[in-house]
Amino acid sequence: MNVQPESSPLQSYPKRTIVLVGMMGAGKTSVGKKVAAMLGLPFLDSDVEIQTAAGMSISEIFASLGEPAFRDGERKVIARLLAGPPCVLATGGGAFIAEETRREILKNALSVWIRAEVDVLWERVRGRPGRPLLAQPNPKKVLSELSRVRAPFYAEADVIVDSVRGMSHEAMAEKIIQAISEHENSPVEARSAVQGK
Ligand code: S3P
Repeated sequence: MNVQPESSPLQSYPKRTIVLVGMMGAGKTSVGKKVAAMLGLPFLDSDVEIQTAAGMSISEIFASLGEPAFRDGERKVIARLLAGPPCVLATGGGAFIAEETRREILKNALSVWIRAEVDVLWERVRGRPGRPLLAQPNPKKVLSELSRVRAPFYAEADVIVDSVRGMSHEAMAEKIIQAISEHENSPVEARSAVQGK
């Protein structure tokens, strides 16, 4: 069922898949589901697809096959999903950092970086198992370091939206749709100037 409201600024959208990128805890999955519902699009999550394809959890893949194998699977899964019909696709936090995966997303989709401060990310991921990169003695430090190192890559996304502490998933989804709409309606030269591309 298409639940897109008549007044949606993205009424004629989308012709391309919307890919959500950003750190663990940014809200790609929870907010992505709302964005998809508001636009009447299917929602997909690359982590879920990888687990289904491998028949293993993310932690099991990291433990038994290693991170490079996970990244390889992630790249293949995302390429397959990008070749399919438009959807809202939430990606794992490291997907957009891998050069080939990032290139594919930038070429074939509209990317949105959900940017959040480390303290906000930490509040959302702490004490939640299933993220092998944080299964370390000082997970907050790892999160902070990953966030710092990855930021320049996430900044290559077409659209950047700040996650606000305490804002509902619905309100965040509306904010994202608004930002996409503004991006789509802005002249291409203006986008290049803003993003320095
Ligand atoms: C990862 C983030 C995870 C998952 C994997 C690696 C990362 O997804 O893909 O644990 O490298 O940041 P979320 O961002 O959905 O937590």
